Amino acid sequence: MKHSLVVLAAGQGTRMHSDLPKVLHAIAGAPMLVHALRSGAALDPERTVIVTGHGAEQVAAAARSWDETVETVVQADQLGTAHAVAQAREALSGFDGDVTVLYGATPFIRPTTLERMAEARSASSDVVVLGFEAADPTGYGRLIVEDGELTRIVEQKDASPAEQAVTLCNSGVVSASAEHLFSLVAEVKNDNTKGEYYLTDIVALARARGLSTAAVTCAEEETLGVNSRADLARAEAVFQAAARAELLESGVTLTAPETVFLAFDTVIGRDVTIAPNVVFGPGVTVETGAEIRAFCHLEGGHISEGAQIGPFARLRPGAEIGGSARIGNFVEVKNADVREGAKVNHLSYVGDADVGREANIGAGTITCNYDGVFKHRTVIGERAFIGSNSALVAPLTIADGGYVASGSVVTSDVGAGDLAIARARQENKPGLGARMLARLNALKAKQSGGK
Ligand code: UD1
Repeated sequence: MKHSLVVLAAGQGTRMHSDLPKVLHAIAGAPMLVHALRSGAALDPERTVIVTGHGAEQVAAAARSWDETVETVVQADQLGTAHAVAQAREALSGFDGDVTVLYGATPFIRPTTLERMAEARSASSDVVVLGFEAADPTGYGRLIVEDGELTRIVEQKDASPAEQAVTLCNSGVVSASAEHLFSLVAEVKNDNTKGEYYLTDIVALARARGLSTAAVTCAEEETLGVNSRADLARAEAVFQAAARAELLESGVTLTAPETVFLAFDTVIGRDVTIAPNVVFGPGVTVETGAEIRAFCHLEGGHISEGAQIGPFARLRPGAEIGGSARIGNFVEVKNADVREGAKVNHLSYVGDADVGREANIGAGTITCNYDGVFKHRTVIGERAFIGSNSALVAPLTIADGGYVASGSVVTSDVGAGDLAIARARQENKPGLGARMLARLNALKAKQSGGK
């Protein structure tokens, strides 16, 4: 069955107290909206329509930078969830498959849950609603099941005491054919306590038409919606706990799991060891057997098999670390290819650079990649040796086996196997050290007057 998504993201999120639209607040390095789109990808949607409102342009730009094929429509006034869905009608004209309604601020619906809904849809039901057993149902719409059939949904504010006692709640996620969904939402009225057009009303309207309705259930955790900063922090904690558990399950060692923070797209291979206090930003892949020592911050990099990173290392976007290479303490690597077996062990900045196989970069080496306007590249050959405290002024090439003496400021290319010394020549003055000290000590004694 062909599928499309309608993602509701028009709400202001008043309780976030933020200039940023609610759905753009991040969990694990990605906007909540992106999490919702990633879940929806399980249905392989033909089209995705995001209903925007508050911060429409910002939301549309963020959505498109994630997936340029998504369409956005604007719901100028937020008159309710049914009204929001109706805004997508035109964008989906001509589409004759199923539509699932998701929410930009409900980031954790599992792909398998959406698949189960799709199965229930194609097997027997015209309208499928995703429900959950709530520990505390207050505030949620209640799914009213009579004789084993979902007959209607009642919002908290419109529910009788008996209905309020129901704990089977509405997640908001709904699936139906495009034809049914849009014709049903067109019938929804706003004669309720809040004066809103409730998407939830389509269940009773569908029954009245003789259509079949059903509820599929999922764990409450999946339906967690974010309305405040406290909810956002809770959502982050839920994400991190699940992601850490998944890594442990897949054969990754986390010495202190609760101190490792993962991004939405972190990929880590078997037998990787991650020491305490490591933070992953987006876009990191770590291959089998690599070791990440304590207190590293890694973002946008690829770490190959058996490499050793840290402690206290920072990888920034474009860091490509080869097999068995070593990146040590207080080393920053950005947009640089550090090949197999190379070592950058202490206190260095390697940016916009290629470091050849088995090259050794001494402590305190800096690739000077920026002239104030442009960025330039440093190329260091295989088995090259860069002495400590060297400044490599790019653009620069140090060929295979090139050797740079410590403390050099290197501005010209170095040939294969050549030695570059670029510092003032040392001069020794016999006995001068002792004579100077004697003079200074005498001066001090005179100033203090023998006191
Ligand atoms: C909705 C459901 C409720 C369910 C709950 C789960 C309705 C009427 N009620 O209630 O049964 O238990 O979700 O969290 O659907 N939105 C728009 N445009 C609008 C209105 C809402 O885009 O005009 C978006 C908002 O961004 C919001 C989301 O839809 O984040 C949910 O809307 P909201 O009005 O907050 O519904 P709830 O009261 O949470």
